[in-house]
Amino acid sequence: MSQAVVRRRTGILISGRGSNMAALIEAAQAADYPAEIGLVLSNQPEAGGLARAEAAGVPVATVDHRAFAKNREAFERAMDEVLRVNQIELVALAGFMRILTPWFVRRWEGRLLNIHPSLLPLFKGTHTHRQALAAGVAEHGCSVHFVVPELDAGPVIAQTKVPVLPGDDEESLSRRVLGVEHALYQRALAEVASGRARLVGGAVVRG
Ligand code: GRF
Repeated sequence: MSQAVVRRRTGILISGRGSNMAALIEAAQAADYPAEIGLVLSNQPEAGGLARAEAAGVPVATVDHRAFAKNREAFERAMDEVLRVNQIELVALAGFMRILTPWFVRRWEGRLLNIHPSLLPLFKGTHTHRQALAAGVAEHGCSVHFVVPELDAGPVIAQTKVPVLPGDDEESLSRRVLGVEHALYQRALAEVASGRARLVGGAVVRG
């Protein structure tokens, strides 16, 4: 007899098109995937990902950060409340373009993941493909990491490398990286949701 898989209720935070979000929704359609997507939450009412999530039958919500001008924590408290009401246990940032305060990060410590388009600790922040080209690296890629208060500094759960090819520009390189982001995020979320990868004492522990 096969054992029922425990599916951790996961919320995905987006600001834009949501291709990583769509990949996580797709993975979670398998009955044995250890996460179910309980909510997609956007800070941008016009984010393209919202319609994609709705079309896939996933509940969506918007907390517009502009309604909380100059009060980041009030914005985050509003998001936190929506996550709580929807009984979310894990949060996956997927192209979420707001910097989170230590208050929110600590509240979700060990249960908050992000995908970043570089091989961390290289190229934190924005314009990572531009940074990689300017540095002249031969390899680039993406990382899924636990979120800590310091930006893009959290322990890495998994990474995928891609080559930087002669003639690459920001667009070709970002396309190559995005092409491997989706499978990476699907795998990393499964590892965290199943408990195979955990944040313990500031490091990723497996097993
Ligand atoms: C991805 O490149 C991700 O690594 C970064 O933002 C982008 C989001 O793209 N954090 P999408 O909205 O998932 O298509």
